[in-house]
Amino acid sequence: MKFGYFDDAKREYVITTPKTPLPWINYLGSDSFFSLISNTCGGYSFYKDAKLLRLTRYRYNDCPVDMNGKYFYIKDGNTIWNPGWQPVKTELDEYECRHGIGYSRFHGAKNGVSADVTTFVPTNDNCEVSRILIKNNSSETKNLQLFSYVEWCLWNADDDMKNYQRNLSTGEVEIVDSTIFHKTEYRERRNHYAISSVNARTDGFDTSRDAFMGAYWKSAANPEAVEKGELTGSVASGWCPIAAHQINLSLAPGEEKSYIFVLGYIENPEEEKWESYGIINKKRAWDMLSKYKTDEQFLAAFEALKAYWDELLSKYTVKSDNDKVNRMVNIWNQYQCMVTFNMSRSASYFETGIGRGMGFRDSCQDLLGFVHLIPDRARERIIDIASTQFEDGSAYHQYQPLTKKGNADIGSGFNDDPLWLIAGTSAYIRETGDTSILNEIVPYDNDMSKATTLMEHLKRSLDYIINHKGPHNLPLIGRADWNDCLNLNCFSAVPGESFQTFGPSEGPVAESVFIGGMFVKYGEEYAQLAELLGDSAEADRARKEVKIMTEAVEKDGWDGKWFVRAYDAYSHKIGSDECDEGKIFIEPQGFCVMAGIGKDNGKALQALDSVKEKLDSDYGIMILQPAYTRYHLELGEISSYPPGYKENAGIFCHNNPWVSIAETVMGRGDRAFEIYRKTCPAYTEEFSEIHFTEPYVYCQMVGGRDAKFHGQGKNSWLTGTAAWTFVNISQYILGIYPTHKGLQIDPCVPSDFGDFEIVRKFREGTYNIKVKTNGSQKGVKKLTVDGKVCVGNIVPYEKGKKIYNIEVEM
Ligand code: GLC
Ligand code: GLC
Repeated sequence: MKFGYFDDAKREYVITTPKTPLPWINYLGSDSFFSLISNTCGGYSFYKDAKLLRLTRYRYNDCPVDMNGKYFYIKDGNTIWNPGWQPVKTELDEYECRHGIGYSRFHGAKNGVSADVTTFVPTNDNCEVSRILIKNNSSETKNLQLFSYVEWCLWNADDDMKNYQRNLSTGEVEIVDSTIFHKTEYRERRNHYAISSVNARTDGFDTSRDAFMGAYWKSAANPEAVEKGELTGSVASGWCPIAAHQINLSLAPGEEKSYIFVLGYIENPEEEKWESYGIINKKRAWDMLSKYKTDEQFLAAFEALKAYWDELLSKYTVKSDNDKVNRMVNIWNQYQCMVTFNMSRSASYFETGIGRGMGFRDSCQDLLGFVHLIPDRARERIIDIASTQFEDGSAYHQYQPLTKKGNADIGSGFNDDPLWLIAGTSAYIRETGDTSILNEIVPYDNDMSKATTLMEHLKRSLDYIINHKGPHNLPLIGRADWNDCLNLNCFSAVPGESFQTFGPSEGPVAESVFIGGMFVKYGEEYAQLAELLGDSAEADRARKEVKIMTEAVEKDGWDGKWFVRAYDAYSHKIGSDECDEGKIFIEPQGFCVMAGIGKDNGKALQALDSVKEKLDSDYGIMILQPAYTRYHLELGEISSYPPGYKENAGIFCHNNPWVSIAETVMGRGDRAFEIYRKTCPAYTEEFSEIHFTEPYVYCQMVGGRDAKFHGQGKNSWLTGTAAWTFVNISQYILGIYPTHKGLQIDPCVPSDFGDFEIVRKFREGTYNIKVKTNGSQKGVKKLTVDGKVCVGNIVPYEKGKKIYNIEVEM
């Protein structure tokens, strides 16, 4: 069952009922100002950092869910309704939400009146702009009232929901004409305030939540001032400041009126904070508002957003017989890659934005699917991430986007982290050819007195693994590896202890075969970077270490039919046939084969066949089997989840593409695509009532076979799945892979996929690629570039060349 449909021409998902299984959200903003917005107008906004600079308040763990958003109320006689249905929930005669690329639109109609809201964050501004068009479709004159409502957050979203003894006394606002200024804490150490404004004369306002809603048992669903049809003109002093506007309007039959609302963030230099004693300097606010006064200005800003995305999405486009693939590749998968790049795992409807900042490993992986879109931002991100690394090559697990400093309370010691920095840097250089980044001087732990070249950072990443090996010559796992929940040194027995920080982060025994596979893959990529810098001795050294690691993985990391997952602190195997539970794990199968381990001796194929036999399900590949049915002290968080959920035998979408890529390495296009298809949103859309999460983006986890809700998704949007599925479909299945020498073309598709065309912008060139598959799954038989036959399957990069016309025969 579906709750909407894709409108590919407009690049929108159209939701046709407000009653979706969960709030289905969108993200607005691509640089500094961001909003989350649900299909019923719930959500919130922040500037740069969802924890530290939150503009509007959201209620967590609320019931009904998704409470607080930016709401419009229309009062038509005794009927009060919202174009997005919430919060009043008056049944609408018409409802539609269109989530587009960086914008959302809502259409609601009731009793002959329609309202169309378009909301977006302009490309170069720190605000959210919403236009509401109200139209009288009836044959009588309508006298209506329009109200707007947002509730301010007192900036630090974490403190905001805990520290009432202070916060209920600090709220302050100013009001000038149609603009409400939220200036809590501006009197002291803040130099920023927020505004809510409309481009029309208003007939009333409220800035105190209590005045707007009435006493404390009222809510946004039945605000007293709206019911009375008259805002009270309250000026907030402490308690809960809001911004509400009232506009009375009369519409003749067929008449339509337009109002533009702006929610903005303004920052003043310290010396320009005040206009006069206690009165904030509003110049920058007026400048911002002057840009969104008219419909022409609104439409121009909206067109600029569209042009921005046209350009970005033109970097990789495919035309194939498969609409679902086209839709994901050309629109939604790339869009989600941008969102995960911006948010890491900070702010979604499953991540509160107050817990986690930017993940070290997460952001490095997000880069893989984003780097082709805006390489300069990827470059900046690599430097930011590397700047939080420790001198010994290890890393803080997360950092705050505002301060860009490592987050000490989240801890460190995840031993896969260092290698992801190599992965991200290598992807950036393969995309751009910009080796100058390797010579950038980058601090350790944000301390410039300890700084070296980025290349030296990468060397320390590599050496960290080389210098931290256990009894089987495999990498020590530390606190955990990619699987945050495999906490082999933790031994937590007390409720509530964080598995992410409790206990020693190191142990001399517990080892990870997965990190071994990663080392083999990224050790080789590191060696290539050393070669680019002309350091062949370093490249040789790295390759020698890769060989040693490969041998260790093949020897003690092989269980007979698949790769072992790890060794615990007692040196017992995890993910082995000898275990009673958790006999086989997905991660090492995907990563080791991707790295080429066992490719020539049958182990790789055997491992992939075991995955299919033991881990596959209708909704994707489970992370492990059999599920852990009891808590294992020696394994940590993984066994804390009930069977079938999350890391305990859930379908972790993130590592499904690893296995799919591994299948392409082995040339099995049918199977690679089968894996791709099972978790792909354009396919899961068909059973949205089971899958639950948005049908246009990936989620982190789907309930596994052991779960009560097998097939049900959770944790949508912010997941490394976005980047890895894009890498999989664009670079391995469709097969356009950037190398240091040029674009490699090596598709691995299902035998019935048919011919396809790709336009790929790579460095200064546009590559028009036509592939004739001839029913083959893999293997390029002939490659011509501008009519000339090319040896091998890499199109050599030619500096300055603008157009490459390429024909491929498989
Ligand atoms: C979450 C984390 C990611 C981790 C994964 C597996 O998605 O964001 O860093 O690798 O879980 O535990
Ligand atoms: C929990 C989750 C895991 C996530 C981690 C982040 O361990 O199960 O997916 O990566 O928390 O803190």
